[in-house]
Amino acid sequence: MTSKSKGRSLEVTIFLDFMHFTNHVNTVDEENDPLTGHLFSLKGARWRSLRSKLTPVFTSGKIKMMFQTLANCSDDLVSVVDKHIEEVQPIDVKDVVARFTTDVIASCAFGIECNSLKNPNSEFRKYGRKIFEVDMWDSLTRLMTFFLPNLLIYIKIRTFRKDMTDFFVNTVKETVNYRDRNNIIRKDFMHLLIQLKNNVKITDNDIGDLNNKSKMTENIKNDDNKPLLTMNELAAQAFVFLAAGFETSSTAITFCLYELVQNPEFEDLVREEINMILVKYDGKLSYDARSVEHLKTLRKYPPVPIHTRECTKTYKVPGTNIILDKGSLVFIPVLGIQRDPKYYPDPDKFDPERFSEEQKATRHSATWTPFGDGPRACIGLRFGLMQTKFGLATLLKHFKFTLHPKTEIPIVLDLKSFFLAVEKGIWLKAERI
Ligand code: HEM
Repeated sequence: MTSKSKGRSLEVTIFLDFMHFTNHVNTVDEENDPLTGHLFSLKGARWRSLRSKLTPVFTSGKIKMMFQTLANCSDDLVSVVDKHIEEVQPIDVKDVVARFTTDVIASCAFGIECNSLKNPNSEFRKYGRKIFEVDMWDSLTRLMTFFLPNLLIYIKIRTFRKDMTDFFVNTVKETVNYRDRNNIIRKDFMHLLIQLKNNVKITDNDIGDLNNKSKMTENIKNDDNKPLLTMNELAAQAFVFLAAGFETSSTAITFCLYELVQNPEFEDLVREEINMILVKYDGKLSYDARSVEHLKTLRKYPPVPIHTRECTKTYKVPGTNIILDKGSLVFIPVLGIQRDPKYYPDPDKFDPERFSEEQKATRHSATWTPFGDGPRACIGLRFGLMQTKFGLATLLKHFKFTLHPKTEIPIVLDLKSFFLAVEKGIWLKAERI
């Protein structure tokens, strides 16, 4: 919807009026379908309370603390590309980087080494892929999620299949019990979630000093004496960090490489920038060296092409006669807005200059929302950017990429996919630098 209201379009209005559009459009049935009780799906007061407990998990201090865990996965990424070069095979770039981001999130959110780069058929990768595989049945339940959510709960139809739920819940339970029993502390999301399960509030100033529990934390309990996070709630959050974290970042890396190989001058520019930063940081990619600036492809290819909101309080769109009743579902066309020539003239042109401070100042901020906007925006933005930039910098530091003829041009977007995806994939050739 793009109807104008006194100079601001409807999609802008919806972000600004959060009190009327608090929820995402998802079904939550924690009893029958425990993985649905995650931050992305929860509504109203339950969402608000969980968001405030989880916000300290994603501060820059905590993300910095996880950098080394993330960096440990990069050697395998380089080895996989080397293997493709050796075997003269085209690289299905989305598959390779999704295995990298799966390894990173499995390690940071679940605390396990799933090694999907080394073993593409690992169980973790298998279930990670399944989250977004859509067959006829899934399409039907999704439609019901939108239009008949209560019926879905009433007849106990699950959003996530039982084998997948069992796999993730059991993996989490085993890890939590093992760490609790052996008093194991690791610099990752799982540790912070366990803190919440053990009624330890996470504070902002507990950077890195993980061995000093009393210094980094403050004991508190919920008013109703329940833990801050139950075991099932903990599993659902680890699950959403995977679901929201691996496919988004791998999509961002994939489309960025695609755009760079079509604009080799930019590929060289980005590599130059990486090398300059490396000189500054003793040749190592470190957390402080993450600030690669020229990666501006989230406009043309936002990994989440549509934002959803449920109208939670009847709303009159300012300056129009449009009334949105409570319960209406709103879909915000991110891809459409970010390719709208009204905001971005010659929209298919890849031009990082559009993001200069001067040019940014000419647009409303809601014309660029790959991470959403308002209080419901992506909580994992910092981590997502860190792993996206780190993955890209690792690849561009070691390899020069070109398009493989197996890529069908023009690319055709896969309309069945929840995230932005290309029907027949993006295939690249790599050579060592
Ligand atoms: C390039 C990477 C990423 C992109 C493009 C992205 C994008 C998004 C978008 C568009 C939303 C919905 C925002 C809205 O409705 O306004 C969202 C929400 C969310 N994202 Fe991300 N995301 C990324 C990485 C991550 C990572 C790495 C994590 C976790 C480790 C994560 C966790 C979440 C969660 C939990 C929510 C729900 C927030 C809430 O409802 O309160 N995301 N993300």
